[in-house]
Amino acid sequence: MSQRIPKDLIDDIHQRVNIVDIIGKYVHLKKQGANYFGLCPFQAEKTPSLSVNEHKKIFHCFSCGRGGNVFNFIMMIDNLSFVDAVAKVAEFGGIPFDSYRYQNHSVKTVNVAVQKVLTFSQAFYHHVLEHTEIGDVALNYLKQRDILPKTMETFQLGYAPDNNLLTESLQAASDLSPDAIKESNVITSTETKTYDYFKDRVMIPINDENGDLVGFGGRSLHFNLANEPKYLNSKQSKIFNKGNLLYNLNRAKSEIVQSHEAVLLEGYFDVISAWQAGLKNTVASMGTSFTAKQLRLLNKFTNRLILVYDGDAPGKAAIDKAIDNLSKQKNLEVLVAPIPGGLDPDEYIKKYGGDSFKKLVQKERISKYRFRLDYYQENIDLKNEQDLLNFVRRILSKFSDLKNDSLQREVYLKELSQITGISLINLQNQFNQQVAKENHINQRLIKNDLAPVKKQIDNRFERAQRELLFLAFNNDLFSWLDEEYHWTFPNSDYEVIFELFKQYYEDNQGQVRFYEFLNILPSDLVSLATSINELDRPTTTDKKEVAGLITVIKKEELNNKIKKMQDKVNLYQKLGQKSQLDESVKQLIKLIRIKQQEVS
Ligand code: GTP
Ligand code: MN
Repeated sequence: MSQRIPKDLIDDIHQRVNIVDIIGKYVHLKKQGANYFGLCPFQAEKTPSLSVNEHKKIFHCFSCGRGGNVFNFIMMIDNLSFVDAVAKVAEFGGIPFDSYRYQNHSVKTVNVAVQKVLTFSQAFYHHVLEHTEIGDVALNYLKQRDILPKTMETFQLGYAPDNNLLTESLQAASDLSPDAIKESNVITSTETKTYDYFKDRVMIPINDENGDLVGFGGRSLHFNLANEPKYLNSKQSKIFNKGNLLYNLNRAKSEIVQSHEAVLLEGYFDVISAWQAGLKNTVASMGTSFTAKQLRLLNKFTNRLILVYDGDAPGKAAIDKAIDNLSKQKNLEVLVAPIPGGLDPDEYIKKYGGDSFKKLVQKERISKYRFRLDYYQENIDLKNEQDLLNFVRRILSKFSDLKNDSLQREVYLKELSQITGISLINLQNQFNQQVAKENHINQRLIKNDLAPVKKQIDNRFERAQRELLFLAFNNDLFSWLDEEYHWTFPNSDYEVIFELFKQYYEDNQGQVRFYEFLNILPSDLVSLATSINELDRPTTTDKKEVAGLITVIKKEELNNKIKKMQDKVNLYQKLGQKSQLDESVKQLIKLIRIKQQEVS
């Protein structure tokens, strides 16, 4: 079992590396007053807005709002997890760090109660498939797809019947909590009725990388698919988030590590058939384009990916798009194994056998450059001048990452020259010009799709809350705020930061180091907290000032509530809903009374 990185070790790294040196490896920094400044790598810009404070050990961009400590910087720029970012910083600093020990310490997103409901449902679907008559239709379907019983076991395939039996069974089970049943999303309800979410579908359990069951994909058995989706997945939720998952990664990961590569397929059944054929390092994204999180997940296990998508036109277009997406991740080599005859992997295996498919993936893979040279030539006529020029421009625009690989560059530019009859020298000039242009747009603009920074609204209400949070970061206000006001922030982001800071403050007996506090924040709040800590105002304060801020916040909060209630009143008036109208008028009067009391 892996463990959390000890606090002392984190602290040691913070003390022994200099944030200016580390960020300086990515951005040209210049000292200006107390801080260092450079062009922010997270956006295109011409004047430097990135500031790095050596003493406070944080960075902050006052243009895009991103900020944090040295680990946060590396996480953002290299798209790494916290543990991997710590490892990288330690390496920069020459500090021994055994990242393997901490690698799998991931926070579980599924709580135990929900997990129980999902597991119960999986067992139910599986049982119905294998041991009931209702399941025969699905069993026959799977047999006809050449899925062997052993494979059904491995993937715990099942069948969701169309009779609400799961709902009944879940409700009858005494050890499952109603809240957890609701949260698991295997049932759904209207105001009057509760019923099974999946009906008449072959069920494919979906696990996260650690093997925890998080949801299902369901393949419809209906012949006529016009009125319903072929595949229905669990609803997007905190537990089941397609963008964070790769189907089959839990089973494939050891094979991926051993073979030094992962094979990326499009569909559940492609993965299942490939597995049955003995190709076990395959994963699939679930009908969405690649997210930074999925890339990071894969990159943890390998530096090489083979794309094996459907051989038809949409499949090729999907490969083209995936190459762009995947190229955002540094240290990831992308290859393509095209399938002839417009088949998908599952169909190819059925037609030509598993061994032939394995050979195709292992022996007939080509580079992403070769794929595009072929693909972009489809459906055009190179003897047509316009087609020719468009083709060359399109190819060159996609070849810019060849700038770091002189060998491949020569091979593919030569080939391009042969195909088009344009001289190699000319193509090389064109290529260099384009690279120079891209460099100019931004020196080192990073290509990950970073999470957007939470937008900070600029009105009195929000400003006062930020100022109060700033003062809480810099003064011992907690017990006073608690005793005097039972304080909570109306803005939930500020409230989360405040509560975590309070906890950090108590755990450290008031010894506060902001850069260290950032390590316990959820990563989507790091930039927000940093920008608040960087507010340009004195750190000292007094009770009178704090009380003044609280008055502003409470007053604005009350005004907001009154405004919302007024809107409700207007709405119910329009709709003529008498009882709701009476209730909201009552509420409105109550709020107005509170306001009058506070003014007087
Ligand atoms: P089969 O017809 O069962 O062989 O499907 P397939 O495995 O060939 O899948 P297909 O190429 O149609 O789609 C690839 C993947 O995209 C599927 O495995 C799903 O993850 C996803 N997908 C396809 N159709 C739908 C749909 O209607 N809804 C959703 N949510 N996802 C879909
Ligand atoms: Mn298929």
